[in-house]
This record gives sequence, C-alpha cells and structure tokens, in this order.
Amino acid sequence: MSTPAPNPVVAPDHIHALLNRLHQESLTQEAALPSTYLSSPEGFDDLMRDKFIALDQDKCQFVYQLARAIGARNIVEIGTSFGVSTIYLALAVGSNLDHLGGEGKVIATEKEHTKAERARQHWKEAGDSLVTRHIDLREGDLLETLKNNIPQIDLILLDIWAPVALPALKLLEPRLRSGAVVIIDNSISSATRYKELLDHLRSPTSGYTNLTLPYSNGLEMCVKV
Ligand SMILES: C[S@@+](CC[C@H](N)C(=O)[O-])C[C@H]1O[C@@H](n2cnc3c(N)ncnc32)[C@H](O)[C@@H]1O
Repeated sequence: MSTPAPNPVVAPDHIHALLNRLHQESLTQEAALPSTYLSSPEGFDDLMRDKFIALDQDKCQFVYQLARAIGARNIVEIGTSFGVSTIYLALAVGSNLDHLGGEGKVIATEKEHTKAERARQHWKEAGDSLVTRHIDLREGDLLETLKNNIPQIDLILLDIWAPVALPALKLLEPRLRSGAVVIIDNSISSATRYKELLDHLRSPTSGYTNLTLPYSNGLEMCVKV
C-alpha cells in the first residue's frame, strides 16, 4: 500500500478540514463556469463576485512550504478573494515568527467588499491566534491600497486578473528584498493574458531569475536577484 502524499502544512485538524472544504467548494464552482469565462470582460466582475477561484490546493501547499523555507515574514497577496491562499500564508508567517522572531504580516488585497467579508469569516473560523492576527487585509483597489505602508517584502503571491498584474508588481518592486520570490499562478494557461508581466520578468535586464514549475496550468517562480 502506498503512503499518502505528504502535506507540509502544520495546522490543527479544524484548519485542515476548513481548507479541504473551501478548496472543494472552489473546484465545484469552477467546474460550473463557462470555459470562456476568462476571455469575456463584459460582466466579468459580476460573474466573479460570488466565486472563490482559489489557488489549487497543491500550489497552496507549495507556496506554504516555500514561505517556510525562505523564512518569509512579510508577504503580499495580490488577489485574496475568499481568503483561501491567505490562510496558508498566515500559517507560514505565524510559524516563521514563532521560530525566527521579529515581526511580519500577510498583506492581503481584495476590491470586493462582499468577498472581503467572506474572507474574514473564513479566517475567523480558522482562528485568531493562528491566522487572523497575521493578516492585514487592505480592502479596495490594490493599486491604491498598496501605495503606502509596505514593509520590505520576502514573498509575493500574484493571483489576480491580468490587467492589474504588472502595475501591481511594479508598485511593489521597490520594496522587494534581494532574494525575494514572486509566484504567479497560471503562467502557462494565461501566458497570453500575462504577456506583458512575463516579458517584464523574463527580460535579461529585469533582475529576476525565472522558472516555470510544472503544476497544472503552470506556476511561475521568480527570484529577485
Ligand atoms: C483569483 S482571485 C484570488 C484567489 C485567492 N488567491 C485564493 O487562492 O483564494 C483574484 C481576486 O482578486 C480580486 N481583484 C481583482 N482586481 C483587483 C484589484 N484591482 N484590487 C484588489 N483586488 C482585486 C478579485 O475580486 C478576486 O477576488
């Protein structure tokens, strides 16, 4: 009998159960979406207002493991939705602070008030001490909410509609520490939509090293060197 795939996430059972439930809800919703949903700008925000579109569970586990490996204290999540990936980031930051000391936060971003409210409910269900207290949720357009009070950044998770991706990264670039990691979801399936962003990151003068990880639809791992 083979052993189950290991899960790096250190958390109590109720958080694992919550994460499993939220990922399942997200997958069920996505399966019901029309296949063209990403390429129909008309009514897009309305369609997405009650949708998770959560980062896949295996990718969330990878980002958690990465955040632990680099001892990330300050993480910016570009696109929070109902707060699923945020839970992984908050758990990682909490463990890093416990082990390494110092201060840190996950800066989360969501423009839709109703989505921000659902995210807060999920974090409350996970618990204040392990999750909520490590999150600074900035509600509103992230091109405004990320203009000020940004610490030196260890890790960015970029999981956002394409038109906002490059402007958001450019806004944060001055705050990236050397060796900071930028993770971009769907770098294969959304390569056309993310063209400007990927061209920027992969340009020889950009100061990043880039790697496309072979997760479903691609996951780009870029290191600021
Ligand atoms: C793909 S979802 C994020 C999923 C989330 N990372 C997770 O794993 O649960 C992207 C989110 O970004 C939000 N968003 C899009 N444009 C935004 C903007 N300009 N400012 C803030 N949030 C934005 C959308 O409302 C949507 O909820």
